[in-house]
Formats: sequence, C-alpha cells, structure tokens
Amino acid sequence: MKKILISIAFLIVAQSFMRADEGMWIPMLLKQQNEKDMRANGMRISADDIYSINNASLKDAIVLFGRGCTGEIVSDKGLMLTNHHCGYGNIQQHSSLEFNYLEKGFWAMSLDEELPNKGLTATILIRMEDVTKAVLEGITNQTSESERAKIVEKNIEKITKEAVKGTHYSAVIKPFYYGNQYFMYINEIFKDIRLVGAPPSNIGKFGGDTDNWMWPRHTGDFSVFRIYTGPDGKPAEFSKDNIPYKPKKHLTISTKGYKKDDFTFVFGYPGTTEQFLTSQAVALKTVYENPIAIQLREERLNIIKKHMDSDPLIRIQYAAKVASIANGWKKWIGENRGIKRLNTISEKQVLEAKFNAWANATPERKAEYGNLMADFKKVYDKATPYYVSYKYFSEAAYSIEAVRYALSLRSLIYLAEKKETTETAVKTHAQALIDAAKSHFKGYQQVIDKESFAVATRIYFENHDSQYQPQALKDIAKKYKNNFDRAAEDIFSKSLFTSEEKMLALLQNFKKKDVKKIKKDPIYTYAEETINHYREEIYSALMEVEEKIDHLYRLYSKGLMEMMPDKLFYPDANMTLRVTYGKVDDYYPYDGVRYHYFTTLDGIMEKENPDVYDYIVEPKLKELWKAKDYGSYADKDGSMHVVFIASNHTTGGNSGSPVLNADGHLIGINFDRNWEGTMSDVQYDPDQCRNISIDIRYCLFIIDKLAGAKHLIDEMTIVN
Ligand code: ARG
Ligand code: GLU
Repeated sequence: MKKILISIAFLIVAQSFMRADEGMWIPMLLKQQNEKDMRANGMRISADDIYSINNASLKDAIVLFGRGCTGEIVSDKGLMLTNHHCGYGNIQQHSSLEFNYLEKGFWAMSLDEELPNKGLTATILIRMEDVTKAVLEGITNQTSESERAKIVEKNIEKITKEAVKGTHYSAVIKPFYYGNQYFMYINEIFKDIRLVGAPPSNIGKFGGDTDNWMWPRHTGDFSVFRIYTGPDGKPAEFSKDNIPYKPKKHLTISTKGYKKDDFTFVFGYPGTTEQFLTSQAVALKTVYENPIAIQLREERLNIIKKHMDSDPLIRIQYAAKVASIANGWKKWIGENRGIKRLNTISEKQVLEAKFNAWANATPERKAEYGNLMADFKKVYDKATPYYVSYKYFSEAAYSIEAVRYALSLRSLIYLAEKKETTETAVKTHAQALIDAAKSHFKGYQQVIDKESFAVATRIYFENHDSQYQPQALKDIAKKYKNNFDRAAEDIFSKSLFTSEEKMLALLQNFKKKDVKKIKKDPIYTYAEETINHYREEIYSALMEVEEKIDHLYRLYSKGLMEMMPDKLFYPDANMTLRVTYGKVDDYYPYDGVRYHYFTTLDGIMEKENPDVYDYIVEPKLKELWKAKDYGSYADKDGSMHVVFIASNHTTGGNSGSPVLNADGHLIGINFDRNWEGTMSDVQYDPDQCRNISIDIRYCLFIIDKLAGAKHLIDEMTIVN
C-alpha cells in the first residue's frame, strides 16, 4: 500500500515537469527557461553562447535555407551545409544528361566553379523580440474576432515597418500559442547562394523511399552551398563581382564522435506541430484525413512505380514526384500508428474532461472557459465534412497533373475573354506559356496521369459523401456509367492538356477565339468546375470555421497554462528558429527488438543490391570501404559511422539542421525522424521518438576521400 502511495506522489511531481527531450524552445528565452536543465543534462556552454544579440553566438551560423529547410555555416567564407534532399531541386536544375550531377554528384574545385541558383535564399536571424503588447494594442475583451484580426494586421504592419526603417533587414512577426503571444524576427536575407557540392544520388539518397522515415538508416543526405554577398558584405543578387560571405560566426566541427546518452541539441527551423489539438481534431486527422490521403497516394504510387520499373526515362522524370508523394504517404501511416499506440485520442479526452471541470470550478473561469469544450465540439462537428472534402479535392482532383496544368492556363483565358485585349497581346501571352508547357511535358507521362485519374476519380466518387462532391465528378460518373477507366481513356484522348503536340500547336498561334477550344476541353471543364466548387462550397466554409477554431485554441492554450502553472509549455513549431535538446539514444521499437543508436559503412555493403535501385552502392565508396581508407574520420572503434539517432524533438523544416554536442560543436546534420516517432507533431513520446542525423565525419569523409575536395575541409574549423 505504501509503495503505491509513493509512486502516485512521484507521478504527480513527474507530470508537472516536462521530459527534457520534448519541446521546441525559443532561443531568446533559453536563459530563463532551459539553461539550467540543459546544463543538468550535460551541456557545457551557456545560453548566451547559443543566442545573444550583443556577441557573436551560434545563432549567427544558422540559416533558413530557401523556405523550408535549415542550413548551417561552417567556414569564415560562408560555406554552408544542408541536406541533399533540401538542395535536390537545385542540383536537379543544374543537371542534364551530359552533366548528370544528380546521379554522378558535383564538386566545385574552386570558387569560380560554384553554381548560382536563381531564387534560392539564405535567411539569417539578426535578433528577435517579444512584441505581444504592441501587436495587441487597441484590443480589449470586447473586441470581436474579425475586428481583432484587422487590428493585429495593422499593428504588425506598423511595427515591422518601423523596426527595419533605414536598414536592409526585413522583419516578420509570428503568432505563438494561437495569438496569445507575438515575436518579431529581424532577418538578413542573402540572395546569391551557390552550389558547391553534392554526393551522387546513390550516396545522398541511398535507401531512397524504401528507407525513408526508417531506422536503421544509411543515407548520406547532405549537400554543400556557399553564401555570397556584394563587395560591401551585404546581401546582393547574383553577380560575378560578389564575394563569399563573412559570417559573424561559423560552427566548429567535432570529429570526436558521441556515445549513448551524450547531450545533443538541434538548432533550426521546425515547420509545424499541433500539440494542442483536441481529441476530436486528432480523430479528424487520424480517422478521416490521413486514411483518405494514404489510400489515394498508395494507388498513385503503385501506378507510378509500375511504370518507373519498366522505363529508365520515367524513373528520372518521376523521381522527385515520387519522393514527395511517398514522403507524406509514409509519414501519415507512421503518424496514425503512433497515435493509436499512444492512445492519444482517449488521453486527450481525459485531459479535456479535467479541463472542463477546472473551467467550471469558479465563476470567473466559467465565464471565460465554461463553454470552450462545447464550442470546440460544435465547430468541429460542422467543419468535419468540409475538411474531408478538402482532402478529397487535394488528393483526388488537384493531384492529377493534367488538372493542375489546365488550371495554370486560366490567366490566358481571362486575358483573351476581355473585350479590350488585342489579338497581339493574347498571342504574346500564349507564346510566353510555351516554355512552361515544354518543361511541364518534359517530366510528364500521359499514361501515368490517365491511370491515376481513373483510380482517383473512382475513389472520389465512390467514397466521398455525394452532398459534398463537385457536379463535374457526378457528371463523369453518369456519362460513363461509373466506368472510370473508360472515362479516363476517353477524356485523356480528347483533351489538349495531355499532349505536348496538341498543346504547342494551340499555343504557338493562339487567337482570342481559341478560348472556346480550351473551355470545352474535358480536362479543363472538370478542373474548372471542381476548383470552383472547392472555392465556393468548401474553402469559404473552412475559412469561416478556421477563424473560430483559432480563437478557441487561443483560449484553450491559455487556459491549459493557467490550469498547470508549474508545467513549462512551449509553443507549436511555426517556421521560426528553435532549439530542441535531447540525448544520443537507442530505442525498442517493438517487443524483443532493440535498435542500436548508430549505423556504419558496413551496413551499406550489407544493404547492397544491384537489382534494386535504392540499394545500388557507389563503386568508389566500396573501394574505400574495402581498403578501410577512412583517414581521420573513422570512429575510435575503427568503423566509419554513417548515421545516428537521438531524442531531439524535431519536425519537417528541421531538415539540414545542425546537431551539436555539449560544447556546441557540430557532430551531425538532421535529416529525418523514425517511423515509430512520426506522431510527435501531435504527441511526443520520449521512448519512441528519435531524430535521424548524418554523422558529420561521414560527410567529411565523402568530401575528402570520395570527392577529393580537400580544399573545403581546409576551410572548416575542426576539433578532434
Ligand atoms: N522524410 C524526410 C523529410 O521529411 C526526407 C524526405 C526526402 N526523402 C525521400 N526519400 N523522399 O523530409
Ligand atoms: N525530412 C524532414 C524535412 O525535410 C525532416 C524530418 C522530419 O519531419 O522530422 O524537414
């Protein structure tokens, strides 16, 4: 009896403190919120070393790479590391059959061989600031939601404008806890970012989609870029006169390695998490939305894979598309499993009941939160069919390439339909669309799209509530007597949007009256009616609902913090710079199985299979392995470590983020999570959630021994 009492008391204490591993923390608040715990967990540097506005700190070396990845600066000449899958689009753009950098890899042997990338940016944070008070100025308890939104927007515009006046910086303000708090970020955005190096795909993508989201892993998922500035050291568009960026700080690299339980932290730009979702919202996601997307993507992937396996050209054309379709598909499968395993829905129901009791315990709380749970239910009951319908629209209709392509021509139609538009103007506009058409069809296979259309429309028609279906879908079903294969056959053979030849013929000599040809095109009519239906019936309803939902979560997250004053909360990820910390750790995915915390080059040779594309081993890598030619990059144990896992709480956007050790030295580059842990966007589980990182020593080994780009190593600061 006594024992039970003690363990209950312990439970209560333990619950009020968050496990060190969970949380995506705000750099500016590390000192007050996390430093002590980070040190207790082994960190040897200070919060000021990580984020400071007075001195150079690690934050000066962290980059928002493009719009959705992280990168880190590793030399005083602006050399930057990120993932291979983050640089993929750029590497692909420089690739041709003659110079196939994707397949063969690319290494600039001097500065003038580095390749510029139009549109690519690198954003570095100058400083952040809590601007809650200024953003909410003019708002009272009586302000309505729509009024509030207007005031917030106006205030934000004013504050950001003032903040960067007279500088070349840009400012952005983001809401935290659904608008309970606002932070402003002052950024410097660099625009001349050049490709320095990338390993061949059989290293950078080793394991492909087969191994994606999985442990054990052997992917060499890194690429190398460099930031350039104008001669004055400030951001500038590409120019030959530009010079390598001189950063305030670059990361020191450690080749010491790590062992189990070593402290690590990840510093980067996590995109989205949804820890506050109610039980009903989690059910919406896992019972409705995820299964719809999973089923539709699985069907499309099967079709694409069948064709890729039979034709090497199709393999190239569809590699990036498959990677992106499969990435979501596989993540949601893992997420659903994880949420089921954790009983997230019933756990959340318990929390909500507790909250409701707390909310109704005093008159003041009752006035503020008394109806919250009931309101949530009302809003979600109403919104569910619309969210479902949105999923079908995006996964079954908008996912069809010809549909998206047809919609991209609407600007031409608008122009041509205007009375005052001249024939010359229309012709010029059409001509300008020719390049886009050519590049669209360069990566297009009608047969894949046609088969996908048949399957997707059938599922859309058979599984989705007809009340929320677009009329165009019902018309197709009726016309072809529910035979969607026949429908696809007929529609795709008649449409202009499925054939490069027909499309170019149309665009090359486009006249105003040709609009008619487009408007009666069967793909175009389907696309146009479906998107109009979505806009008018679905999107508008969702917009209305989302404003309410945001308001309810603002109250809910505030209420939860009041209810649990001892618990340290962290805001959901929102593409702002965060620190997350944990330790190098193995895990037990299921009964009887233990996963080790690192992999080695030996594992790549074990996985080798010349018949399976994802497991073809780079011959030169094999030679180096045979000769054990690892230079100074081998572990103390003599092997070449490739990838390792740790319990840092990460999400999409953390790709490319530096993984740092207790001294703040770079030991790895984050690139994925394990499948058992992908539910961490909704609920984190310290036993199962691991971030997956490439060992920095493997990157150095590839750069030095495989690519022979020793000059890059010489630029870096390496401690061992
Ligand atoms: N799962 C990783 C992420 O979410 C890697 C994705 C790219 N790799 C792939 N095989 N699709 O972005
Ligand atoms: N691969 C992901 C990305 O591109 C990171 C993995 C994750 O979602 O944790 O950001």
